Amino acid sequence: MSIGIDRISLYTPSYYLDVCELAVARGVDPNKFTIGIGQDKQAVIPSSQDIVTMGANAAIRLRGDIDDSRLGLVIVGTESGVDASKASALYIHELLNLPHSARCMEIKEACFGGTAALLVARDYIAAHPGKQALIIAADIARYGLASGGEVTQGGGAVAILVSENPRIAEIEEHTSVYSGSIQDFWRPVYTDEAQARGKYSTEQYLEFFEHVWLDYAHTMHAKPQDFAAFLFHLPYTKMGAKALRKLEELTEPVTHLEQRFEQSIQYSRAIGNVYTGSLYVGLISLLELDNSLKAGDRLALFSYGSGAVAELFTARLVEGYEKALYYHADLLNQRTQVSVNEYESIFKDVVPYAPQDYSTNPRYYCGDFVLTGVVGMERQYATRSCAEQPIASAACD
Ligand code: HMG
Repeated sequence: MSIGIDRISLYTPSYYLDVCELAVARGVDPNKFTIGIGQDKQAVIPSSQDIVTMGANAAIRLRGDIDDSRLGLVIVGTESGVDASKASALYIHELLNLPHSARCMEIKEACFGGTAALLVARDYIAAHPGKQALIIAADIARYGLASGGEVTQGGGAVAILVSENPRIAEIEEHTSVYSGSIQDFWRPVYTDEAQARGKYSTEQYLEFFEHVWLDYAHTMHAKPQDFAAFLFHLPYTKMGAKALRKLEELTEPVTHLEQRFEQSIQYSRAIGNVYTGSLYVGLISLLELDNSLKAGDRLALFSYGSGAVAELFTARLVEGYEKALYYHADLLNQRTQVSVNEYESIFKDVVPYAPQDYSTNPRYYCGDFVLTGVVGMERQYATRSCAEQPIASAACD
């Protein structure tokens, strides 16, 4: 049975920061950020966008392809959860008016959560032929003003519809996985800013990549030449470039992979880290910007979640895949640039980590769905058209 990615959609809010301006403000050579880190812009996430709204904003485009009688599973992979108990998938379920017969849940393992959701969905469909699953990988990468990780911030969501006979790519059966408890990156529940042992995390990323690649190559008798492209988790794009070099060190020259690698990092260069979604931002970037891939081409995907779990899996493009894509260049090109001052004030205007009422700033409302605020410790979500009407409007009740 062929199971895989039937549709895939990306959402990132309408505001970005130019990392060269950030470099100047922080007294850093801009080349460090654009060449050394490999980023150009970073998404700026207003407090009216969280994983629920960004997830719904990504998934709304797939709504027309969801068959309510077949949708059996909705999973959000995230490490930016908005509640310790209720799954964000349920808020999204309501915003998208999804069928009550679908299981809804949230999965967590740092940036690996999106892949965990995707592979669980694949197995679910194998066990329940005919079903569909909706997977959402949504996150806000937030390290703190003037922190070491600041240049690698970003955010957004990727929504994937998983089904039999997919229109984009079939996910192949074999994967190689490597798990081990390490302290490279974590976020205690009382803060919204990640803690990272930056350099150590990059070393561990490469070490985990080595484990899964060697295992995959050994088990499947695989070599880089078997693949049309390698896609990597992209906390910042230079990290992916380091992984490609590591692959070369472990095997053979990978010149044939370089051009497609460049295409795969373009959207990430403009968005920054989307944690669970980053690998899939790379996949979307490659599929939308490349015009030389063809049906039958195989892609290798390396997923890494700090803490840490790594998994290497593979996918095969299907005939006509390019017709099933949405093309997101406009979403990125039509964003509004904010100054460093404005970014800092948006960064500080966050939902409080305390039981107090709070309202988000309508000036930064974007997308179809927004968080309007918190009332009595309950998050208030609305469609944009409702949020912008007077509160008493009957049309939005
Ligand atoms: P840093 O200390 O700012 O940077 O930390 P650096 O001093 O190591 O420099 C970075 C690169 O810029 C170096 O190149 C420099 O040579 C170069 P490299 O040696 O790496 O090839 N450089 C320049 N290049 C051109 N012109 C110049 C110049 N100056 C220096 N003038 C770090 C960088 C990424 C560690 C930091 O930003 C950080 O802590 N980020 C957050 C952690 C992170 O992203 N880790 C990645 C691996 S872990 C992961 O992927 C999981 C994650 O997504 C979370 C999850 O799973 O949930 C993070």
